[in-house]
Amino acid sequence: MAKRSLLGIVLTGVALAASAGYVVKVPDHFPPMPIPDDNPMTIAKVELGRQLFYDKRLSSDNSVACASCHKQEYAFSDGGHAVSTGVEGRKGTRNAPSLADVGYRDKLFWEGGSPRLETQAIGPLTDPNEMNMDPAALEAKLRAIPEYQTAFKAVFPDGITMLNIAKALSAFERTLVSANSPWDRYREGDLTALSPAALRGMQLFFSERGDCFHCHNGQDFTDDSLRNTALATVYEDIGLARITGKDEDVGKFKVPTLRNVELTAPYMHDGSFKTLREVVEHYNNGGQANLNADPLMRPLGLSEAEVDDLVEFLKALTDRSFTQDPRFAPPSPAASR
Ligand code: HEC
Ligand code: HEC
Repeated sequence: MAKRSLLGIVLTGVALAASAGYVVKVPDHFPPMPIPDDNPMTIAKVELGRQLFYDKRLSSDNSVACASCHKQEYAFSDGGHAVSTGVEGRKGTRNAPSLADVGYRDKLFWEGGSPRLETQAIGPLTDPNEMNMDPAALEAKLRAIPEYQTAFKAVFPDGITMLNIAKALSAFERTLVSANSPWDRYREGDLTALSPAALRGMQLFFSERGDCFHCHNGQDFTDDSLRNTALATVYEDIGLARITGKDEDVGKFKVPTLRNVELTAPYMHDGSFKTLREVVEHYNNGGQANLNADPLMRPLGLSEAEVDDLVEFLKALTDRSFTQDPRFAPPSPAASR
């Protein structure tokens, strides 16, 4: 682990050297952000990552950036779209997850198939339905852009390579900390931060009756496990079984973070639920008959008012400062072509 401080002071002076460290600031009820030894954070690297994240030239027809499907105003999900649109109007098959606090995840993608951000980023860059770039072609394309020549040289001795593109993107993604929702303020001692309905919903969420917390726990409301939530009797997308080939893994998907979930509709890996109420009603009904259903999936017997309270609690996980933070916005109009 790289050296880091819990206090997490982000160095902001304009005259700092490009190699100055960037410390990811997190509150006391968060663990320190894990930073891999082989990709230390610097201000210049994070800034380069931000440029790349918003740059459509990283796609084969210059129409799609990471930010096309991961939009800040929707907590870096593809708000409103069940599936996303990649180059040449091609549709994907899964719902784009939020990138809030994604630096804490040790399993990425809905079936958890990628262990870290650096390997994950290669996925969308090369996926024919997303950005559709051959690695050599992408390197050549960026080498022809003088601003990138200079920016990469300042950060990486070996300049523009696929791995360095992935490293810079990952450094930017690790800065995407969302930690300022009403729930966080409540955790930090502001007992007025949650409405009475949200407080009742919180109690249900963390009770054996509501039973959400067995899977959605920790500061990001996920235990990073893979579970079958009985969305269907027959899953079109087989989830974890895509990697393991095992029958019992069909329909298992990663437990998603619930931070900012109010902003990330539609829901689940396939975007099949339009509202939070539909999701909570699904849990209340216990889901569809499915051999692999998690044992926690059973009818909960919650009243309509209790379902409403759970929805109010989920809405208390919205962090408006995250969706408006200028550090996560496009670097400048010129850079986000
Ligand atoms: C065309 C839309 C699209 C584009 C462009 C795109 N993504 Fe995604 N992203 C998705 C979808 C859909 C998923 C879920 C895919 C899956 O699980 O198989 C995803 C998943 C992810 C995840 C995993 C999150 C998690 O919690 O598992 C990360 C990280 C991510 N994208 C980062 C990026 C970066 C960085 C880029 C640019 C290099 C990018 N994405 C470009 C749609 C997109
Ligand atoms: C057995 C583990 C488990 C339990 C219990 C559980 N969840 Fe989930 N939750 C998941 C998984 C896994 C997904 C994603 C499923 C998929 O996409 O197929 C999910 C998805 C969600 C989503 C959609 C998030 C998104 O970004 O699409 C919400 C909201 C949610 N759960 C809320 C709750 C609430 C509220 C409860 C309690 C009533 C609960 N969950 C209980 C595992 C669980």
